[in-house]
Amino acid sequence: MNGTILIVDDDDDTAILLRDSLKKRGFDVECVNSAQQCLDRLRTEAVDVVVTDVQMTGMSGIELCVELRQRYPDLLPIVLTGQGGLETAIAAIRAGAYDFITKPVKVDALAIAVGRALEHLSLKREVKRLRTAADRDLPIDGIAGSSPAIRETIEMVRRVSDSDATVLITGESGTGKELVAKALHNLSPRRDHPFVAVNCAAMPAPLLESELFGHVRGAFTDAKRSRAGLFVQAGAGTIFLDEIGEMPIEMQVKLLRVLQERRVRPVGGDEEVPFEARVVTATNRDLETEVEEKRFREDLFYRINVVAIPVPPLRSRAGDILLLAQFFLKRIATRTAKPVQGISGPAARLLMDYDWPGNVRELENCMERAVALCRLDEITVDDLPAKVQEHQSSKIVITTESPGELITLDEMERRYVRQVLGAVGGNKTHAARILGIDRRSLYRRLEEPRHDAKPSTPPPTEGHHPRSPTSPPISASSPISPISNGHSNNGLGSPSASHPGEIEPG
Ligand SMILES: Nc1ncnc2c1ncn2[C@@H]1O[C@H](COP(=O)(O)OP(=O)(O)OP(=O)(O)O)[C@@H](O)[C@H]1O
Ligand SMILES: [Mg+2]
Repeated sequence: MNGTILIVDDDDDTAILLRDSLKKRGFDVECVNSAQQCLDRLRTEAVDVVVTDVQMTGMSGIELCVELRQRYPDLLPIVLTGQGGLETAIAAIRAGAYDFITKPVKVDALAIAVGRALEHLSLKREVKRLRTAADRDLPIDGIAGSSPAIRETIEMVRRVSDSDATVLITGESGTGKELVAKALHNLSPRRDHPFVAVNCAAMPAPLLESELFGHVRGAFTDAKRSRAGLFVQAGAGTIFLDEIGEMPIEMQVKLLRVLQERRVRPVGGDEEVPFEARVVTATNRDLETEVEEKRFREDLFYRINVVAIPVPPLRSRAGDILLLAQFFLKRIATRTAKPVQGISGPAARLLMDYDWPGNVRELENCMERAVALCRLDEITVDDLPAKVQEHQSSKIVITTESPGELITLDEMERRYVRQVLGAVGGNKTHAARILGIDRRSLYRRLEEPRHDAKPSTPPPTEGHHPRSPTSPPISASSPISPISNGHSNNGLGSPSASHPGEIEPG
């Protein structure tokens, strides 16, 4: 981990021993013999973490912490407490120490505390950077984000905005498909014409047909006068057919004809009317699977899928989570006139670790709630929903060394396949593509091992959370970093595990 550490101890041997042991663990460390030397050094050199003894000739470690807090608020002090135990520790934390380590110092415990301090600093800097970035970077037509995944989507929107090609926007629920459809319209030469959105899942087939294509007077009981459908009302603008995957099958055949002929026939009428609007569609279903399973017409699929714009799930644009959180925070705080400005480091860590099954919409709701609950000028862990606070990250981390907990390669493969499938919202075609295998092999790799060793049929589940409840995440430890406990960084009682590498300072 990057960062500079300065050890302050008036006992030369201890200072050098600690410096060398931390250096061996990859840290960039220097040492000095007094608090005054530390302050002198800080005038010319940037230091991230100061590790200081308490009792020293001249200025004590506690007094040094007070000075550091005033002069270098971004620097994190760690105090080595000897006699006085808990009382000294509390005094140190009150004086501004980030953490404390009890003597005799266990080098591993110190290394963990230093690593944690550096991670805390880097998160703090990231949050600060994003706060400025969110102020500066105007999101493209309301689409905030700078991750490669969302940039690719935006690039695609830009490239096809000028054309009249039919577009299919795909992505999990809440990823921003409607936002993309609007951006596509607003960037196109059609921007001064209407943008008409229709939710194809919300209506039964006959009603949808009359909404889309219009009807003539007397076409049905309530049709007192004829009415143009939305295809025509959209004029030279854009008609956005949302949730196209849910369109009743009898409507699909009619829509196919309309798209081929670029004319609509109002319900009850004999004449077809031409329309000019560009057609943009969206779905959160895996249409290729829907086609295979005969719930969606293949010919219509090819007709609407002239240009496909996939919108990535939030979990695959991890770099955007804090940026979006900050973006929503600012918007909501301005709207509600609350003085909330930022997000605490531990809260930011939790936001980044959470999986966001409801994607951007869920994050937006989470920030709305957080701003409402927030009593300080920054969002803290307590302002986040319990599921975000309690979430155990499922990143693949194997930290166990106990042979009994290790798994076979087969099991590892099965869990990885499930994880990839989970990451793409259960879309088997997409998962197979990422894994570089065909769908049949994907099914095979998902099968639980069977002791009778007979090949079995593919599993029937097709949902958004394909990880079976019986299979734990691969992580054998909680990868949430220690700072994510969120209850201020007082570090009380932190270094409790057994640590080798003990040093007895003099
Ligand atoms: N990149 C983004 N920047 C800012 N706001 C976003 C972004 N993506 C999504 N949102 C916001 O998240 C919410 C959900 O977006 P939207 O309705 O476009 O998602 P969707 O994919 O159409 O969802 P669904 O599948 O549930 O219809 C909206 O309030 C939208 O403004
Ligand atoms: Mg939508």
